[in-house]
Amino acid sequence: MPTRLLRWPAAVLAAAVLSALIPPGCATGPKTLASHDAQVKPILAKMTLDEKIGQMTQPDLDYINDPADVTNLFIGSVLSGGSSDPKEGNSLQAWTDTYDRLQQQALKTRLGIPILYGVDAVHGHNNVLGAVIFPHNVGLGCTRNPALVEKIGRVTAEEVRATGIQWTFAPSVAAPQDIRWGRTYEGFSEDPVLVQQLGEAATRGLQGPDLASPLSVLACAKHYVGDGGTTYVVGPDGKGHLDQGDTKVDEQTLRKIHLPGYVTTVKAGVGAIMPSYNSWNGVKASASRRLLTEILKEELGFQGFLISDYNALDQIKPGDFKTSIEISINAGMDMAMVPGSYKTFISRLKELVQEGRVPMSRIDDAVTRILRVKFAMGLMDKSRPPLADRSLHKSFGSPERRQVARQAVRESLVLLKNERQALPVSKSAARIHVAGKNADDIGNQCGGWTIDWQGKSGPVTTGGTTILAAIRSAVSSNTQVTFSKDGSGAQGATLGIAVIGELPYAEMHGDRSDLALDKEDLSTVANLKKAGIPVVAVLVSGRPMIINEALAQADAFVAAWLPGTEGQGVSDVLFGDYKPTGKLSFSWPRSMDQLPLNVNLPAAGYDPLFKYGYGLSW
Ligand code: BGC
Ligand code: BGC
Repeated sequence: MPTRLLRWPAAVLAAAVLSALIPPGCATGPKTLASHDAQVKPILAKMTLDEKIGQMTQPDLDYINDPADVTNLFIGSVLSGGSSDPKEGNSLQAWTDTYDRLQQQALKTRLGIPILYGVDAVHGHNNVLGAVIFPHNVGLGCTRNPALVEKIGRVTAEEVRATGIQWTFAPSVAAPQDIRWGRTYEGFSEDPVLVQQLGEAATRGLQGPDLASPLSVLACAKHYVGDGGTTYVVGPDGKGHLDQGDTKVDEQTLRKIHLPGYVTTVKAGVGAIMPSYNSWNGVKASASRRLLTEILKEELGFQGFLISDYNALDQIKPGDFKTSIEISINAGMDMAMVPGSYKTFISRLKELVQEGRVPMSRIDDAVTRILRVKFAMGLMDKSRPPLADRSLHKSFGSPERRQVARQAVRESLVLLKNERQALPVSKSAARIHVAGKNADDIGNQCGGWTIDWQGKSGPVTTGGTTILAAIRSAVSSNTQVTFSKDGSGAQGATLGIAVIGELPYAEMHGDRSDLALDKEDLSTVANLKKAGIPVVAVLVSGRPMIINEALAQADAFVAAWLPGTEGQGVSDVLFGDYKPTGKLSFSWPRSMDQLPLNVNLPAAGYDPLFKYGYGLSW
């Protein structure tokens, strides 16, 4: 053995030693995605135009009436949108069966190229009943803990792979600049530096040490670029809108605030990126050659593929669907999320190629990028059929994984106020009165993108522990815990805890012109106050809100964000098992007229109620 080694040229030896030393995370780096091109080439040479266009097409499960479409149209990818569940219902079994069934359809094609199945696993495998639901990114930003965010990515990947699925449309590396935006909670922070750190950590966690691992999922940084920078406008409906709007900033600002998350995720080897619905100075991101090809692929060296957002091509103006396809594919889009219009997409794109409006070189580049990723993931390895590994079912939603989520919840809590030592609460208090619409509601605690696209109030959402249940299980056996939603009947209690805030929402529906607490919440807090007892307020919300009145009445105030299924992370801090360590990932305004308010604006006008990075402890 040593003599053979000696015969190797020094450079080869050095390379061998280096590759043994390089941490495995680097193996999925952008360079190595393109290193699969030698494997892609012979396959590409064999492919017909129909087969190539099929690879670039992504229908939604909801619209696939005949699974044989996957075979007949050479489909390269399928997604399940926010509410697109298996036809047999929402269960681990049904999701896994659905994946396997569609994958088998793909394996029947002439070349047997497997599909990539994509979902929005944005805080755990959140569409599947029984999955662990982690805090939304707004809360993870407050942990300032990249190692934890990476671990959450790992757990999420393993839950996703249990259903066979190998692709998640995450992480969001948006840097939301205006909290009126309904997708604020999907972003880690208004500060691009924190977005960079945590976006990279999430990517590493999801994609794992090696994309080829059966426990890795393909990550997808989104929404490229400037989704969090759109201008607030009042629409014809009289309501304020930011979602899918126009980001009116110069290129320097775009690079400084909105691009950083892509720089680090590309370096971390992210295999997919989703161009955004929003425009940049009037031009849709999905139509911009400057953004997709020049900046992302040429300058940043992104070697993976671009997937358009849900029906985003339809929004490209001017023009009919065919022109929109032409513009977007020529701008650099590689795969189209065309949930229900996949058949039309396929025929129009074929015409465009035949008419010379989309060059064959562009099609070949797109397919090369998609197949690189499939090679990197080991999907093209015929000795390893890409079907679900059902042995992973047994740890789905396991107690160990719930512990990771519980840790994330407690590290994400931000203590905004604590007077008269209201916190921590004694576990042996005689009686604790809990109140508020978000005290005993898993759905509200999880927020949007949970089981349903927009999320849903109520107990049926998925398993887990509500904050009320967590409080009940934390206290001593002598402590009485009473509950009323409106805070009535608190007289005589040792202390009151009001759990208030927002109800679930997601994109398109979550923009708000008024973030003041509603009347119900204010009267809940007021009722506890009237009882003459110390009051602790816990805010469950996807963003800072206008809390002045409740803050004045409460002795202690905790921002809990959208914690997910593990309410015990909240009680861990309330009862002092852990000290609060969370720091604000967003600036907290005094009033609506301060918005937009964030650390990237000129320091002169920066006068929030609580600054970015604020957070008390004891
Ligand atoms: C959202 C994306 C999401 C996609 C698929 C779109 O409407 O903007 O974030 O990944 O739907 O569900
Ligand atoms: C889907 C989402 C999608 C939205 C866009 C919903 O039905 O579930 O994933 O983003 O439609 O219109």
